[in-house]
Amino acid sequence: MDLEKLLADRLAQAFSVVAGGPVDPVVRRSQHADYQSDAALSLARRLGRPPREIATEVLGQAELADLCSAVEVSGPGFINLTVADPALGALLSRMAVDTRLGVAVSAAAETVVIDYSAPNVAKEMHVGHLRSTVIGDAAVRLLEWLGHRVIKANHLGDWGTPFGMLIEHLLDLGESEAAHELSVGDLDSFYKAARVKFDTDDAFKERARRRVVALQSGDELTLRLWRLLVAESEEYFLTVYDQLGVLLTEEDFHGESYYNDMLAPVTDELDRLGLLRDSGDAACVFPEGFTGRDGQPLPIIVRKRDGGYGYGATDLAAIRHRTRDLGATRLLYVVGLPQRQHFEMVYAVARQAGWLTPPAKAEHIGFGSILGSDGKMLRSRAGGSIKLVGLLDEAVTRAAELARQKNPDLPEATVADVARAVGIGAIKYADLSTDRIKDYVFDWQRMLALDGNTAPYLQYAHARIRSIFRRAGIEQFTATPISIVHPAEHALALELAAFGTVVTASSRTWSSTGSPATCTPSPPPSAASTNTARSCAPRARCGTAGWRCATSPPESCTRACTCWASPPRTAC
Ligand code: ARG
Repeated sequence: MDLEKLLADRLAQAFSVVAGGPVDPVVRRSQHADYQSDAALSLARRLGRPPREIATEVLGQAELADLCSAVEVSGPGFINLTVADPALGALLSRMAVDTRLGVAVSAAAETVVIDYSAPNVAKEMHVGHLRSTVIGDAAVRLLEWLGHRVIKANHLGDWGTPFGMLIEHLLDLGESEAAHELSVGDLDSFYKAARVKFDTDDAFKERARRRVVALQSGDELTLRLWRLLVAESEEYFLTVYDQLGVLLTEEDFHGESYYNDMLAPVTDELDRLGLLRDSGDAACVFPEGFTGRDGQPLPIIVRKRDGGYGYGATDLAAIRHRTRDLGATRLLYVVGLPQRQHFEMVYAVARQAGWLTPPAKAEHIGFGSILGSDGKMLRSRAGGSIKLVGLLDEAVTRAAELARQKNPDLPEATVADVARAVGIGAIKYADLSTDRIKDYVFDWQRMLALDGNTAPYLQYAHARIRSIFRRAGIEQFTATPISIVHPAEHALALELAAFGTVVTASSRTWSSTGSPATCTPSPPPSAASTNTARSCAPRARCGTAGWRCATSPPESCTRACTCWASPPRTAC
């Protein structure tokens, strides 16, 4: 029922006759026609024929009479297709009575881990966490709806060196006072107070250092205090998730601490694979192809000299756990763009270690920053970082004012419901409807506007449609067949018919619209080295330890790809 695919299949048949082999007809929506194919242009060189001639011959071959009311060759050799109204009507009629709107459940269901939200314990959530939470939530809903098994992984920052100072500060305050301070939601001031002591008081610093060691060696009292900090923060995060209406629950908290017991075995395995190097202060891995400004290889710190493990070590353990133990074949990381290199390095090491081998792949779903009207990072009036709850509360308050203005007779209980839907909806939609990779300006006026591409406009249109149905006594839309007559209906029908294409494309193209899941291209083997290029057969070898793939990323190898085996063997 996917219109784009239907048209593409018909054209593909015709193209394959003309080209003497399979051709992707590259059918897309277009400004110049309902759909357009530009495949004749790219085929011209291969066939040594003018593109217009190819396009004309393809149209001569193609069976499109039942789908299109007009077909033509335009410009240098584009094929323009106008979809026939009866075909559009028939398609919409089928969609309208199908609970899945004509979108099939994925035939190749995958286990997908989505790593998102991930705020830090005893720290306020900031707008970056808002973006991660909202985008991650959309990804979860989308992939689940398509039939994938989705594991929500809320990778809380709940472990590591800061907990030494946080626990010591908690002890200084006394447990009940600390719990009170944390529960009123002022996490930042708690964190900052601990930090100030850490930076200015040497004795405190020493206590904090010893406390980290106690935490890592499993000291009961220390663990109990740590749990208290984590529990208070988790409760707070859950109230934010509730306010946002996202799917995350307490079962999805898989913070850094969850991987603690896996860190030593992971380090041993890296060592056995010959990937671990001692660099003075720490044991590190140096993924190939990553160098700093000075040209020196960049490390991922695995274990520091004091025995503590780095952020990267936890991410390596998490990848190994997700692919090996959870059986995931797709790992999505919804984390801001500043961490892009970190993830690329982690993926590279995981591939070298054989923990991320095809068909498993990892993708960084990066996103831009939220800016204030001055074009700089969004800050509070006092210049501090914006508290997420404050922002959400303000959205609801503003939406309530709007609702009262529009309809002064609305009962207050209804105002509250509407305000929550409109206010939170406005924030989420403003976030999701912009280009994920770009920064965007946070603008109350625009996101709460009742016209334009905003949540309130969509919600208003939805409410009006429902009210039309209510008045007409229609409970469920079954009035088919739908006939398309007016050009506006034609335009609307085309949008509706594209739903399946858009959903499928969104579920697949994270990395092509975001930061690519790259495998840093390996340098070509020098003649002097003992490198040998050979085809990776079986293909599965591509990307495993010892094999470096010449295709970037290795997942993009469709057939046998070329690998380089070189001593010491490395993989992308
Ligand atoms: N807690 C981190 C932060 O606030 C984000 C963690 C992202 N996920 C991960 N697997 N490293 O920046």
